[in-house]
Amino acid sequence: MKYYGNKSILLSISKPQLNMSLRFYHSLLLLQLIFCSISAILSQDNGDPAIRTMEAFSGYPIHESNSFATDFVSSLSVDALTLQKQIDELSTFSDTPAPSVTRILYSEKDVLARRYIKNLMTLAGLSVREDIVGNIFGRWTGHEAELAPLATGSHIDAIPYSGKYDGVVGVLGAIEAINVLKSIWYIDQFSFGLSCADWNFNRYGFKPKRSLEVIMFTSEEPTRFGISCLGSRLLAGSEALAKDLMSTVDSQNISFLDAARSAGYAKEQDDLSSVFLKKGSYSAFLELHIEQGPILEEEGTSIGIVTAIAAPASLKVDFEGNGGHAGAVLMPKRNDAGLAAAELALAVEKHVLDSGSVDTVGTVGILELHPGAINSIPSKSHLEIDTRDIDEKRRNIVVEKIHQSAVSIAKTRGVVLSEFKIINQDPPALSEKLIIEAAEAASKELNLTHKLMISRAYHDSLFMARVSPMGMIFIPCYKGYSHKPEEYASGQDIANGVKVLALTLAKLSLQ
Ligand SMILES: *[C@@H]1O[C@H](CO)[C@@H](O)[C@H](O)[C@H]1NC(C)=O
Ligand SMILES: *[C@@H]1O[C@H](CO)[C@@H](O)[C@H](O)[C@H]1NC(C)=O
Ligand SMILES: [Zn+2]
Repeated sequence: MKYYGNKSILLSISKPQLNMSLRFYHSLLLLQLIFCSISAILSQDNGDPAIRTMEAFSGYPIHESNSFATDFVSSLSVDALTLQKQIDELSTFSDTPAPSVTRILYSEKDVLARRYIKNLMTLAGLSVREDIVGNIFGRWTGHEAELAPLATGSHIDAIPYSGKYDGVVGVLGAIEAINVLKSIWYIDQFSFGLSCADWNFNRYGFKPKRSLEVIMFTSEEPTRFGISCLGSRLLAGSEALAKDLMSTVDSQNISFLDAARSAGYAKEQDDLSSVFLKKGSYSAFLELHIEQGPILEEEGTSIGIVTAIAAPASLKVDFEGNGGHAGAVLMPKRNDAGLAAAELALAVEKHVLDSGSVDTVGTVGILELHPGAINSIPSKSHLEIDTRDIDEKRRNIVVEKIHQSAVSIAKTRGVVLSEFKIINQDPPALSEKLIIEAAEAASKELNLTHKLMISRAYHDSLFMARVSPMGMIFIPCYKGYSHKPEEYASGQDIANGVKVLALTLAKLSLQ
């Protein structure tokens, strides 16, 4: 029989004493049984069992320190092979051949993939529930089930011909993080409040104080209905989206509700506001994700801890001029809608650069001219503009300046600004300081290099931030590739990410 730990009164015995007589051994066991019973009585008004357990094994009060004992940290063990197998298996639920992955919301393959996830959640001992748009929740009930749970998760839908890691790492990785925490067993001589029936083993698994919940969000990608982060936007309480979805159809004229019903959701109700979460429903939300950029890989850094998520504003602009024959209409007589568009594109660049921050970016991704013939002056032009920042005010100033430019360009060129539409203008989100600190501490304790960084792509976390403190953990991915079949993250990097996630969840679950 071997005992670890440093705080036992009963069992602070030196090695020679272990070679004790059987009789002494028996009296020791008897003493321990008595001690155990007394502890159980004392424990009733002795605060939280999980904290006491953690304190007992770590040797110092959890409240005063965010660090975990080395034993706990070094016993975090990720089953990287099984996790890779699951990533590979999930990628076979695809409408296009490997290595590409195409998994569209509420398609047959999406439904099969959802079943796969729910099955893994059940195997991990989580209680599974779904809301009427198919956000999936798997809960591990904590000691203090009445406290707001701590949540983690991501998405598994995949745009056409994309890869198998985007989102998936944050869902399968979250379930694995739960498995990692559930399989930690440490020797605990102070089994206060926990089952004394097990006293002769003195081994207890990690128990969270707050419940832990894994979330798989519905449709992060906008592929089918043109709406990104559909599930998390609804969870965050978007009234406008709940209303719009009543009349939203896909390219085949299939309504959102019919599509949801064909996948087994929204059966009876069609009041999507039942999906909304109250603010404070979660104590924190944490998402593990591949970086989708090259920085971590280039620098050889294992973990990125996201401090802010940039958010885009998307604009649609139309100019209308007079057109005419490219030879016959002389220059002073022209009202060229194409040149108005060209001028506006340059104005977008200027306003973005004028913000003075590298975090402000702007892109004219679409510029179309009508009628689009070499010998015809463009009579109409159409631009779609994306501008992003982590500072909402600064980004909105850029949007306002683009608008002013569009108005004045139209005036000087004698064209009509027939449309200036802000398609969306989501606010950026800042990560919660406590979550950043917990993830940093976890990386350090795991001896993993880490850096603080900004997420320039947006994620379900951007919307979860509206109802919960939020944080994100990034892992490197090959050349920063994403949304294509070459997307790849190594087993080692994924395992590192899962460990940091598990340890950060463990820390936050006790707060
Ligand atoms: C789409 O479906 C609706 C309702 O079924 C129908 O009224 C409408 O005509 C359809 N539109 C197209 C473009 O097929
Ligand atoms: C981290 O490194 C320290 C010092 O080298 C070592 O004592 C500790 O066990 C390591 N922790 C882990 C989790 O590898
Ligand atoms: Zn994603």
